[in-house]
Amino acid sequence: MNPARGGVAVITGAASGFGLEASRIAAGRGMKIVMADVQAQALQTARAEIEGLGAQVLPFQLDVAKAAEVEALAAATLQRFGAPTFVFNNAGVGAGGLIWEHTLKDWEWVVGVNLMGVAHGVRVFTPQMLAAAQADPSYRGHIVNTASMAGLLCAPNMGVYNVVKHAVVALSETLYQDLSLVSEQVHAHVLCPFFVPTGIHESERNRPAEMSEAQAAPTRSQLVAQAMSSKAVSSGKVTAAQVAQFVFDAMDANRFYIFSHPLSLAGVRTRLEDIMSGRNPSDPFAAKPELGQQLRAALQAAR
Ligand SMILES: NC(=O)c1ccc[n+]([C@@H]2O[C@H](COP(=O)([O-])OP(=O)(O)OC[C@H]3O[C@@H](n4cnc5c(N)ncnc54)[C@H](O)[C@@H]3O)[C@@H](O)[C@H]2O)c1
Repeated sequence: MNPARGGVAVITGAASGFGLEASRIAAGRGMKIVMADVQAQALQTARAEIEGLGAQVLPFQLDVAKAAEVEALAAATLQRFGAPTFVFNNAGVGAGGLIWEHTLKDWEWVVGVNLMGVAHGVRVFTPQMLAAAQADPSYRGHIVNTASMAGLLCAPNMGVYNVVKHAVVALSETLYQDLSLVSEQVHAHVLCPFFVPTGIHESERNRPAEMSEAQAAPTRSQLVAQAMSSKAVSSGKVTAAQVAQFVFDAMDANRFYIFSHPLSLAGVRTRLEDIMSGRNPSDPFAAKPELGQQLRAALQAAR
C-alpha cells in the first residue's frame, strides 16, 4: 500500500503545526488517520476539522515521553485500522539557553518528548510494519522522524534542543540502515526543518506540571533564547503546510533526508569541514556577525 493513495497514518503532535498539516494532506489522500497529541482541547478541534474533510480519524491523547502510552497508541491503531503505512514521529517541544543552565527537569522533559517519544514510536510501530510487509508483498510503509536543522548544526544558546535533535538524526539514520538489512518495503526518513511558523516557540504550553522545577524562574540566557526563537520562528517564510507536503513528496520519492531550507545546508558543510580538517568549530554567525554581537551583548549584559 502506498501512503500516497489510501493507507493508515499515525501522526504524533497532530493538533498543531507540521502534524496538523500532515493530517490535512493525509485526509486529502484518503488515508485513515490516528491523530495523537498531548493537548486534549486542541486535539478535539483538529480531529473535528480532519473528520470534516471526510477522513476516518482515531484521536488519541497521550504523552509520547511515556512508553506505556505509546504502546497503547500502537495497540489502538492496530485494533481500529490495522498496521500503519505512515508513522510520523513528530511531537516535539523547544527549550533553549546556555547548556549548563538547564534544570534537571528541562533535560528530562525535552529528552523525554523529542528523543524518547521518537524511540518509543520506532520501537512499537516498526515491528507492526515489518509484520504487515511480510504478510503482503504489496505493502509499503514509511516512518518519518522529525528532527531539525538543529540536529545537523550546533548553534549556540539552543541547549538541550540541539542535543536531542542530533540524537534523532542518528536514530533515524540507524533505522534506515537497519531496515535496509531486513526489508525493502519499510522505509525511514528524517525531517530537518529550519525555522517555520508553528506553535513550537510556545512549547511551555505543553510542559506537564511534573516537568516544572518549583520556583525556577527562567535565566537570562533562556529568556534571550525564547525571544530569539519566537522571532525566528514567526518570521519564517516557508509554511508548515509546505513542510508537510515535502514529507509526502519524500515518501513518494523514497528520499531519506527532508529539508525545508536547503540553503541552510551550507552550515552543515562548514561543520563537516571543521571536523574533517580538525579545525575548531567555526563561528556560526560568520555570515551575519551582527547577530552574534547581539547575542553576546544580550548574554553579557546580565553578568
Ligand atoms: N517549527 C519549526 O521551526 C521547527 C523547526 C525544526 C524542527 N521542528 C520540530 O517539528 C516538530 C513539530 O513541531 P511544530 O513546529 O509543528 O510545533 P507545534 O508546537 O505547532 O506542534 C507540536 C505538537 O506536539 C504536541 N506535543 C508536545 N508535547 C507532546 C507530548 N509530550 N506528547 C504528545 N504530543 C506532544 C503539541 O501539543 C503540538 O500539538 C517538533 O519535533 C519540533 O521540534 C520545528
